[in-house]
Amino acid sequence: MSENKKSGFPVDFAWGAATSSYQVEGAVNEDGKGMHIWDVFTKEEGRIWGNHNGDIACDHYHRFREDVQLMKKMGLKAYRFSIDWSRVLPEGSGKINEKGIAFYNALIDELLKNDIEPYVTLYHWELPYELYKRGGWMNPQIVEWFGEYAKLVAEQFSDRVKYFFTLNEPQCFVGLGFVNGDHAPGVQAPIRDTFEMAHNALKAHGRAVQMLRQYGKQNLVIGYAPTASMCYPETEREEDIAAAREALFSLPPAGREWTWNVSWWSDPVLLGHYPEEGIMKYEKYLPKITEEDLKLISEPIDMYGQNIYNGRCIRMGKDGKPEEVMRYEGFPKTAIDWPVTPECLYWGPRFLYERYRKPIYITENGLSCHDVISLDGKVHDPNRIDFTARYLGQLKKACDDADIRGYFHWSLMDNFEWSKGYSERFGMIYVDYRTQERILKDSAYWYKNIIETNGREL
Ligand code: BGC
Repeated sequence: MSENKKSGFPVDFAWGAATSSYQVEGAVNEDGKGMHIWDVFTKEEGRIWGNHNGDIACDHYHRFREDVQLMKKMGLKAYRFSIDWSRVLPEGSGKINEKGIAFYNALIDELLKNDIEPYVTLYHWELPYELYKRGGWMNPQIVEWFGEYAKLVAEQFSDRVKYFFTLNEPQCFVGLGFVNGDHAPGVQAPIRDTFEMAHNALKAHGRAVQMLRQYGKQNLVIGYAPTASMCYPETEREEDIAAAREALFSLPPAGREWTWNVSWWSDPVLLGHYPEEGIMKYEKYLPKITEEDLKLISEPIDMYGQNIYNGRCIRMGKDGKPEEVMRYEGFPKTAIDWPVTPECLYWGPRFLYERYRKPIYITENGLSCHDVISLDGKVHDPNRIDFTARYLGQLKKACDDADIRGYFHWSLMDNFEWSKGYSERFGMIYVDYRTQERILKDSAYWYKNIIETNGREL
């Protein structure tokens, strides 16, 4: 964008918040829902903090109307949520569960009635257990299974839903699910298998894009929602910027950290090929990759979603290679111990836009805090306000250098934080899990004002 066009957030910016099905819905055994890998994994002693599970979570399945009213009270313009594959296709393929469809229809209608635009994610980690038993991401048939699911979603919901994301954070569902085993299904697979799963997941993404387009009932806006730690330069000197850019798109060694990168997951989707560096580094682990696969994976999409929580500061080293700048003692961090690095919301989108040239949505960003109900009955979360103000300030600046269309705070409400159970609170809405009472935190009121003023004060 040109130097003299400093305008901040576009007028129709999608100010939103996000959740995912298993983290909020509950009702895991109701109305014909099938089991998925998290239903099974969480029941295993010692897997999750406090042996918590998502059986009830925020009971959003029963309380979604109340929750939409809270979204309205916050002035949200958009809500990103995910569909539980096993709620609509209990076995992952074949038999359709009408009651599951009815739930998402009711949620979508309720959102639209309240002028909140739904953004739907197809896969936020709930692999139907029946498909897992048949090999899950290792079975090449998953490409068609996921396609069948995407077709059903398009047929049932796309008359009213315009925005779809296929996969949420493949880095995590492969990396945490199958490389280190901290997440469901808790497997530590051979590295080679994980490359094969990743390739199948990207093909499944491409197949879903095709199905959404073919069966969509309107012109859909389709995207993808990967994650990564961003890189930002220590100074604005050209060489530091170049070093940060290089570090952002470079790849880790072919070990158990390999999934934590941007380009292996995004280059094939947006540029139509895997990065050369990876083809060389990962050579001995790679499955057969055909031209036809790459064509499917790079089926054109309309928007690029990116979940961004933090980043690493990079400078050009004396040896002409990027080097990470160590954080100082006492560097700010969130309750879950993640660093507070607002710069990642300027440099991340800027570098991603430069490389991929697609409109960008920040599909997740946020933090966990040690929130409590105070003596006055309110939930004061100054850290969340401070964090979000800093990050959004950087995103505002990025709007002058990249085409940024929306921001979804993670999360709308406190919820089941995967292996951490209910011990981490990421929401702008406090949930008292004993009573299911919801309380808007101070940040929710603050965010309302940011939305109303389109971020003018940031
Ligand atoms: C995931 C969310 C998760 C959040 C905080 C992202 O990795 O998409 O499901 O709750 O980060 O950990």
